[in-house]
Amino acid sequence: MTGNVVVRFTLNNKEVEAVVPDNLLLADMIREHFGLTGTKIGCGMGECGACTILFDGKPVNSCLILACQANGHEITTIEGISSDGNLSALQKAFVDEGAVQCGFCTPGLVISATALLMDNPVPNEEEIRTAISGNLCRCTGYQSVVAAIQKVAEINRKKRF
Ligand code: FES
Ligand code: FES
Repeated sequence: MTGNVVVRFTLNNKEVEAVVPDNLLLADMIREHFGLTGTKIGCGMGECGACTILFDGKPVNSCLILACQANGHEITTIEGISSDGNLSALQKAFVDEGAVQCGFCTPGLVISATALLMDNPVPNEEEIRTAISGNLCRCTGYQSVVAAIQKVAEINRKKRF
């Protein structure tokens, strides 16, 4: 038997509250309750990474988490990555390097790469490929995605020295 639960959490830096079925998935709450459709649902089984969001700063598949598990936590979706309507440096690099084709995988890839760059601002290629290994893309062949992330890593490297 299912019932409704109240979920209070931080969504893209704003305190929010929702009353949702206790069996609702986080991906569905983000998309349907909050209208943030940048988070995609591909496989619904934790295999494609299209639904990747940041949960307390860590990338997770939101199709594998119940909405009620977000209670008290901090969720960031692709809509929270840009600031004041401007693309982040990483999003710009994705565009510049041609890493966006059909775009279905792009929000998940950007989230995974954002998490990587927060933890490790100057990752090497192997670290980049490992970080995005849970995000499937059937269009790009990944090289342009890696190049986009390397572009930001290079900017970070220059800032450091
Ligand atoms: S939709 Fe969540 S991993 Fe595929
Ligand atoms: S750009 Fe189409 S799936 Fe990645």
